[in-house]
Amino acid sequence: MNTQIPLVKSFFDEATHTFSYVVSDPHSKKSAVIDSVLDYDAASATTSTLQADRLIDYIRENSLSNEWILETHVHADHLTASQYLKEQIGGKIAISHNIKIVQATFSQIYNLDLKYFNMSQSFDYLFQDNEHFKIGNLDAYNIPTPGHTPACLSYVIGDAVFVGDTLFMPDYGTARCDFPNGSAAQLYDSVQRLYDLADNMRMFLCHDYLPDNRDTFICETDIKTQKHCNVHIHQGTAKIDFIHMREAKDATLAMPKLILPAIQINMDAGKFPPPESNGQRYLKLPLNYFKA
Ligand SMILES: [Fe+2]
Repeated sequence: MNTQIPLVKSFFDEATHTFSYVVSDPHSKKSAVIDSVLDYDAASATTSTLQADRLIDYIRENSLSNEWILETHVHADHLTASQYLKEQIGGKIAISHNIKIVQATFSQIYNLDLKYFNMSQSFDYLFQDNEHFKIGNLDAYNIPTPGHTPACLSYVIGDAVFVGDTLFMPDYGTARCDFPNGSAAQLYDSVQRLYDLADNMRMFLCHDYLPDNRDTFICETDIKTQKHCNVHIHQGTAKIDFIHMREAKDATLAMPKLILPAIQINMDAGKFPPPESNGQRYLKLPLNYFKA
């Protein structure tokens, strides 16, 4: 019996088109959560935990013991529920060591004190590039896949790879590369690293936005299908052609609706800013920093 086939349960958040995952080892009943979502109503700046509670219910109903709360990157389109999940089900909140680049860049944008991030990292664990780890008896490791952001990681767990925003479904293509320290050239190289994986490896995505010709949201494909069919990068796509296509497309995109609240919270492992003297917590919005 192959002991390296994890059970993958996906959870779709319709508000942000995000897939979160609970990945578990059926033998040891250990699990990891990947890319959780904290519900956020932008008009009222109110958070709630409906999405996260679905994951928690699944973990409890299946008597799983949670070891990791993994982030593929600092998301710009939704808030992470990692702190709430840690409190409810435990597990180490982990991300790439390159989070430090994101924290340095966005500390300046939000005028936050970088020393805060340098002195007491809110993430429980920072992965080195290509580091191996375990989820119960499952072998896992990360592959650095920068491009969309400098701190993007893909996680290989048994026969499955979780690629975050590196690739979308083959009929939708790739993620934007125009955030600070994003790079279409780096994304191209990152995708080549994923295409070196076994053809039959299952691939799980962080988002699906539905192209014109499809009416069902899908979170899973495989390496071979992406290699042959991805509309932005398939076998034979020249790097320079991809860069031109990606940069031209990115120039037409509006900022994600939740980028300002999301990055502020996600770069601090999902922690809310400390309360001010009246006991209220506040987020900051840099006026006119990003173009509309
Ligand atoms: Fe993203």
